[in-house]
Amino acid sequence: MSARAPAARFDQDALRRAVDTTLTDFMEDRVDDARRRGLPQQAAEVLAEFVRGGGKRIRPMLCLAGWQAAGGAAAVPPPVLKAAASLEMFHAFALIHDDIIDLSDTRRGRPTVHRRLNTDAALLIGDLALVFADDLLHGAALTPAQLRAALPITNSMRADTIYGQYLDVSYSGNPPDSLDPPLAIIRYKTARYTVEGPLLLGAALADVSDATACAPVLSAYGIAVGEAFQLRDDLLGVFGDPAETGKPALDDLREGKATVLMALALRNADAAQRATLHREVGNPRLTRRGAEQVRAVLTATGARAAVEEMIDQRRRSALAALDAADMPPHIAAELRSLAFSATARTT
Ligand code: IPE
Ligand code: MN
Ligand code: MN
Repeated sequence: MSARAPAARFDQDALRRAVDTTLTDFMEDRVDDARRRGLPQQAAEVLAEFVRGGGKRIRPMLCLAGWQAAGGAAAVPPPVLKAAASLEMFHAFALIHDDIIDLSDTRRGRPTVHRRLNTDAALLIGDLALVFADDLLHGAALTPAQLRAALPITNSMRADTIYGQYLDVSYSGNPPDSLDPPLAIIRYKTARYTVEGPLLLGAALADVSDATACAPVLSAYGIAVGEAFQLRDDLLGVFGDPAETGKPALDDLREGKATVLMALALRNADAAQRATLHREVGNPRLTRRGAEQVRAVLTATGARAAVEEMIDQRRRSALAALDAADMPPHIAAELRSLAFSATARTT
């Protein structure tokens, strides 16, 4: 066996470092550019810090998994790394704006951008992140065929994220007891851009023929894991430890977020439990004691256990989709392990 044969494996640590370097280099360049031109470099610096300051890089990593699933080389070329990194920049945009919308004070264990500066500045820094996401994607030196294959995917993924956020805000403060709205919300605001879109983007870059063979499997897997990811996020939003999640413990309840968890509780609640939910959920002055009462109702009605079961179901269906897949076994194994880590997490 030749010592120089390319490793047929998905080297998570090395790839994550490569994504990080791509992001850091790009942001340094933007900060320099603002400074050289006498523009408010603080905006670029705050964004650079936000992007550097944590995050699991789950979306770029999934993009690289999709790339290898569709036959892309283990040694990932820089244009593909940049396209993958652009997903992290889009995520920064979505989070900075989401924290304004949700009135959240902390993110990744630190003050949110609008708490560090102010809402107007944070709105603009979020906008800058969206522009930079495009900058990374369009400046990646992809081939014209790759770009043609990529754009419909990134465009629809981005639009769906915003539609999902729009749905989320439309129901916020008045959570329904029907499951359809929260299920649509988690699919659009999270699953599309967190798991499905990144996988499809990577696959499209590797195989630009418009019918990438593994796309249906990646979609089925991506939607299932993506929904499970947000179901877990919604459980963590109420039952999680802020020291681990880096996010506040009362926000979801204070804003009256329309979640599957809440819909199930509202459906199953008796009169007294329903009164507790109506009194405390969506109350901006909710206390820790009130939140404890809501948590007790979410548990007693079986809503919490039912959401755990829904996460399980989705994980099983994602794994089943992979069983039928025609992709390199080491990538299928990687996606199998991700189906667990993305849905069993505590942060
Ligand atoms: C965030 O949704 C989804 C997007 C940023 C598009 P959430 O509001 O549920 O997420 P967290 O809990 O603040 O991270
Ligand atoms: Mn939020
Ligand atoms: Mn939100």
